[in-house]
Amino acid sequence: MPVEVEIDKKSMSADVGQSLFELAEMMQVQVPTSCIKNGKCRECLVEITEGEQFLTPRSAQEEHLKGRFRLSCRARVVSDSGRISCHTLRREAMRIEQHTQHLPTSFHDIPLAPAVSRQGDRIMLDGREIARGRKITQNMGKNLRHLMWPLTEFIEENRGIPEMSEFNKPLHQGVRGLQHLTLLLIAEGQANPHFLAAGATDYCRYFGNILLAYMWARMARVALESVGDPFYDAKIASARFFFKRIFPETVGLAAKIQAGHKPMMEYPEAMM
Ligand code: FES
Repeated sequence: MPVEVEIDKKSMSADVGQSLFELAEMMQVQVPTSCIKNGKCRECLVEITEGEQFLTPRSAQEEHLKGRFRLSCRARVVSDSGRISCHTLRREAMRIEQHTQHLPTSFHDIPLAPAVSRQGDRIMLDGREIARGRKITQNMGKNLRHLMWPLTEFIEENRGIPEMSEFNKPLHQGVRGLQHLTLLLIAEGQANPHFLAAGATDYCRYFGNILLAYMWARMARVALESVGDPFYDAKIASARFFFKRIFPETVGLAAKIQAGHKPMMEYPEAMM
């Protein structure tokens, strides 16, 4: 009896040697990737919930992974019987899709209130609570740690690679700035909510730049292993463009956040 593989609640029989990524493709389950199954981008993560023993042992590209996480392009079936179950890491998007399934399909009689709204720290979808919190300054910034761990790990991993320094150094500086600005917003915001409000938009833009920088640095890391290939050379050029022409705006954003609310709140009302 062939081994049965379930990915994101879809299942099929699998042959020895097939990777979880290949099986996901056959089941039309979308797996994140930017290296197209080459074991370089580390984006094709899945969490194995059953049958780990029926898969190949961890490859060198998976040494950084802990617990039940595997790269789906590296993990291959080694058994001709049994059951393997896993899921991709796209649960948040799936949750929103599940909620939206029950929304009305006709546009008549739909109130014009926004579908997603906030009530205090509660996040509401169509009047029903779907999550709580999410604000970065909640719990004294603890939520930020989930992002800081992979960022710090990546920066440390690439510190000794000379070709990566043009991407890794500014990313490192930006991440330190993000930590500093988050602490500043928490500290000042507790005393004066205007400080938080005044810096919120710039903080979001700063944050977005850090995430883009992380993505471009990761792409550059993959591309540097295939220098000479026009596709990968174009990736390196794009990463360079981002770090030289776009990312420096974080310096200005940080200055605006640090300037606080006073220049806005002290503006004479009569002059508005
Ligand atoms: S697809 Fe890139 S590491 Fe698996």
